[in-house]
Amino acid sequence: MTARLLDGVAMGRAIRQEVAQDVARLAQVGIKPGLAVVLVGEDPASQVYVRSKGKACEEAGMHSVTIRLPATTTQAELLATIDKLNADPAIHGMLVQLPLPKAMNSEQVLRRIDPRKDVDGFHPENVGKLVTGDPTAFRPATPYGVQQMLIRSGVETKGAHAVIIGRSNIVGKPMANLLIQQGPGGDATVTVCHSRTRDLPAIARQADILIAAIGKAEFVTADMVRPGAVVIDVGINRVDDPTKEKGYRLCGDVAFEPVAAIASAITPVPGGVGPMTIAMLLKNTLQAAELTRAG
Ligand code: GUN
Repeated sequence: MTARLLDGVAMGRAIRQEVAQDVARLAQVGIKPGLAVVLVGEDPASQVYVRSKGKACEEAGMHSVTIRLPATTTQAELLATIDKLNADPAIHGMLVQLPLPKAMNSEQVLRRIDPRKDVDGFHPENVGKLVTGDPTAFRPATPYGVQQMLIRSGVETKGAHAVIIGRSNIVGKPMANLLIQQGPGGDATVTVCHSRTRDLPAIARQADILIAAIGKAEFVTADMVRPGAVVIDVGINRVDDPTKEKGYRLCGDVAFEPVAAIASAITPVPGGVGPMTIAMLLKNTLQAAELTRAG
């Protein structure tokens, strides 16, 4: 392997320590940032994420509430839960873990969250602020984490061609919006590819920074990567593997070994973008708590 490994565990830890210091500072003025995480149903991956978010919150000295609702919960019951959290002064940030059960209307759920508590940045008000470059927007944690990784690793985004594979509301679209903003971690030229893109490998090969967020195991192969490119792997996929105790292994959207042989830098899976996502969620919760202080 020739690529530099971008260590999300170490970087995420550093950010969480910075957040913990700010939490201690807020405690002196009587504010304890609080995050509520709502999980509907029993999706195994979501259960792991929700547990990690709660634990990280507590470790940073924040107030953490996890609300687990059965898969049979109605839309009205979930909206009522959100209303309660909206009105709770101990809760500064909240998120509803996605995906929701198919019968639910996710858009209506996301719109119900008070935009001032929307630490996921999925409410249309925050999406609009992100697009227009309003600094008070909550930035969705995963692309925000990717941007921080690039900044803290000294990867120059200014003038670079960033190619994003994936156009989801959670990663691809906000990632593009962050990278085209003016300023540190921005000023990039951005191309967004997706399942209907013609000759995707040819476009991917033009990338100085290639960001894979499509949720397909080892989709990005070495022939799609320009030698020397920086490769960020947002994917986390479970692949059947009978040799493993759990019966599966985790892998990203990038074929790690062959791509690491030609990239200049690459994120591992696990241990890359994942820990950064949680760190940025804490950072957003801190931002939400500071907002209440400002009035
Ligand atoms: N599911 C996958 N990523 C996310 C995220 O960032 N926030 C929420 N709420 N659900 C997710």
